[in-house]
Amino acid sequence: MFSGKTALITGASSGIGEEMARQLAEQGCHLILVARRTERMLALKSELSAVTVDVITVDLAELQAPVRIFDQVAALGRQVDILINNAGFGFQKPMLEMTPDEQLGMVDVNDRALLALTRLFAAPMAVRGEGWILNVSSVSAWFPIPGMAVYAASKAFVQTLGRALHEELKPSGITVTTLSPGGTRTEFSAKARGQMDPTLEKAMMPVGPVARAGLQALAKGKPVVVPGAIYQLMTGLTRLLPGAWVVKLAGAVMGRHR
Ligand SMILES: NC(=O)c1ccc[n+]([C@@H]2O[C@H](COP(=O)([O-])OP(=O)(O)OC[C@H]3O[C@@H](n4cnc5c(N)ncnc54)[C@H](OP(=O)(O)O)[C@@H]3O)[C@@H](O)[C@H]2O)c1
Repeated sequence: MFSGKTALITGASSGIGEEMARQLAEQGCHLILVARRTERMLALKSELSAVTVDVITVDLAELQAPVRIFDQVAALGRQVDILINNAGFGFQKPMLEMTPDEQLGMVDVNDRALLALTRLFAAPMAVRGEGWILNVSSVSAWFPIPGMAVYAASKAFVQTLGRALHEELKPSGITVTTLSPGGTRTEFSAKARGQMDPTLEKAMMPVGPVARAGLQALAKGKPVVVPGAIYQLMTGLTRLLPGAWVVKLAGAVMGRHR
């Protein structure tokens, strides 16, 4: 499906983004890798020698980062057919234990940069009448999580934006898909929680099927995909249970602090 196309992936230095880069390269898709850890991306580039790979080192928390990426892509003479807004992080911390910088930094990377990159790269896609955008949200988008409130809200933004843009950009030939993973074995959990709760650890998915589900949904033009039966059940239940129960349950299961 994506052979000969070019995908720009944010957060390509580890986890889901790195795995998507591998799976797209297997299809013959050229890549532009974006993250802060240059060494990790250069190692991936040397592994994926069958396709053209460029590396852009940038901190997406910086206000001008999306414009710098856009300009660098133009300077490289590359065209972005597929934009994968995957970079993100979360803290599992109560609101009052986080600094304002931690909170706003999360919103800057998870939302502001994602929105700015979508706006920048969707414009030339619309002119060409073809493009694919995959935004990585989370099952956390489906319910507010006391104890992880800011992260869950930042991912709800990604999902709401993506579902609306799926319809809005369809007439321009652009497909927008939102990937909502549940717990996935990457570096994310260690950064978010420190020590993983053993109950949550059991429900973690390997990164391969999560990345594959996102790319397959993108190729099929689906609006939203939740990988894994357990997480499909969990998000489905949020539509059946009373809202107040959902918030309490989410806090007890996902917002618990050790
Ligand atoms: N793993 C899970 O359980 C899970 C569940 C639901 C949703 N998600 C979402 O999945 C996405 C990928 O996370 P992951 O699980 O693959 O975790 P990960 O292994 O920690 O990867 C996160 C990626 O985002 C990049 N990133 C973070 N902050 C950045 C910044 N300021 N500037 C540029 N790049 C930045 C990191 O690169 P550098 O550090 O090199 O900059 C890294 O490549 C995230 O949006 C996350 O919210 C993960």
